Amino acid sequence: MGAMVTRALEHLEKHWDRYLAQLGALVEIPGVSANPPPDPILRRSAEAVAELLSAVGLENAEVIDFPGGHPYAYADWLHAEGAPTILLYGHHDVQPPGRPEKWVSPAYEPTLRDGRLYGRGAVDDKAGVMMHAAACEAWLSGTGRLPVNVRFIVEGEEEIGSNSLEAFLAEYREQMSADVIVLTDTANLDAGIPSLTVSLRGIAGVLVEVRSLDHPIHSGMWGGPVPDPVQALCKAIADLTDETGTLVPALRPGVRPLSAEARKSLAALPFDEARVREQVGMEPGASFTGDPKMPVWGRIWHQPAVTVVALEARPVEGSTNQIIESARARVSIRTVPDMDPEQVLAALTAHFEQRVPWGLDVQVTPEHTANWWVTTPEGPVFDAARRALEAGYGRRAEHIGCGGSIPFVEPFAAVLGGAPALLMGVEDPPCNAHGENESLLVEDWKSGTRAAVHLYAELGRLPG
Ligand code: BES
Ligand code: MN
Ligand code: MN
Repeated sequence: MGAMVTRALEHLEKHWDRYLAQLGALVEIPGVSANPPPDPILRRSAEAVAELLSAVGLENAEVIDFPGGHPYAYADWLHAEGAPTILLYGHHDVQPPGRPEKWVSPAYEPTLRDGRLYGRGAVDDKAGVMMHAAACEAWLSGTGRLPVNVRFIVEGEEEIGSNSLEAFLAEYREQMSADVIVLTDTANLDAGIPSLTVSLRGIAGVLVEVRSLDHPIHSGMWGGPVPDPVQALCKAIADLTDETGTLVPALRPGVRPLSAEARKSLAALPFDEARVREQVGMEPGASFTGDPKMPVWGRIWHQPAVTVVALEARPVEGSTNQIIESARARVSIRTVPDMDPEQVLAALTAHFEQRVPWGLDVQVTPEHTANWWVTTPEGPVFDAARRALEAGYGRRAEHIGCGGSIPFVEPFAAVLGGAPALLMGVEDPPCNAHGENESLLVEDWKSGTRAAVHLYAELGRLPG
């Protein structure tokens, strides 16, 4: 190991408390991107990130605004002559906090318990931002320089589907040019297991509204002949999948069969059913859904899935014996190669138009889409990443897929001419990202940060 890496690592080890406090300060900012732009809190969040990047020694820190979108934060350090340029990506926006009474400690009060930092955004994705901020600081303060050129872009609307991405790429393509993309917004297979994510699912969703009446009516006076919109909607929802819970063929146009290689690597992965059940908190009597012939990780990473994200009818509390006038649902499909998001939206729309019975009025509105992404983790950049992860965590890295989506990845890698993208994050199975009591496993975050320190050195050795 080079003397410079050692120095950067020594600096890192001395300052964990400060890095953790800086992460906590980010978690205190409730930058929920689901709130409509312009939003002063998202603006403050982007400013806080830009200030952080500047404080760790990066240059040209700025907030980038987009009309109709939430702001990005950017900074760079471009003095590693002859070395490659890496683009670090994270997002500073968060999901809404959910039900306050379910949080053991309040969502925006970062709290350490049993080695985990609790708070909204603690793991998704402020840990990712802070990981690279700390690794940059360790190099810049510990050695006076970085071994690679760094551009650091932190998005403010990832959690709502990156709406300004197209406009952003059109305008900032030059400023974002890089040889390698490094994203810290994904998961590890399990605690302590460094993981390189080699695929993401995409997403395509719709909002469906079903209406049969112009006002609620007495269910005794009219029930029977008058159609209930809730049942009509539920019938169409039930028809999305077969009895195993597998998405019906019409809604998964273009799914590519799994390669023999992918099957082999799935079969070699550890899968402990009892542990997974415990991690997701599944009721003991509940069985897994989906294609029984496919391993569970394969169902999450390589097969499409449908979720009823929201369903609105009359709440039980305050309900009376009435047929209500309308019901609505938000439904999304996670997509895999080679599904086309537009085709999926069209198929979902046709599904609801055809499957809602009794001639009720059906309005289907398409919502955000993101493309799936797959890479082949071969070549010197991926070799460098594997070495860095092994050095940071003290064990060999696994290759995993990701059932979630990151809209930035596919278009960005394409704009950079297919630049390799390293997806190495610190979400772990019990982190509960998007839910209440979201948390970060601090030990893995430290390992990941050490890996980032190594990664910069490894990439710095490759030709520019
Ligand atoms: N960090 C997640 C992506 C992710 C999900 C990583 C699961 C690892 C496991 C990201 O912030 C996210 O939640 N993305 C959204 C994108 C959507 C709004 C287009 C998602 O997957 O729902
Ligand atoms: Mn995220
Ligand atoms: Mn997320």
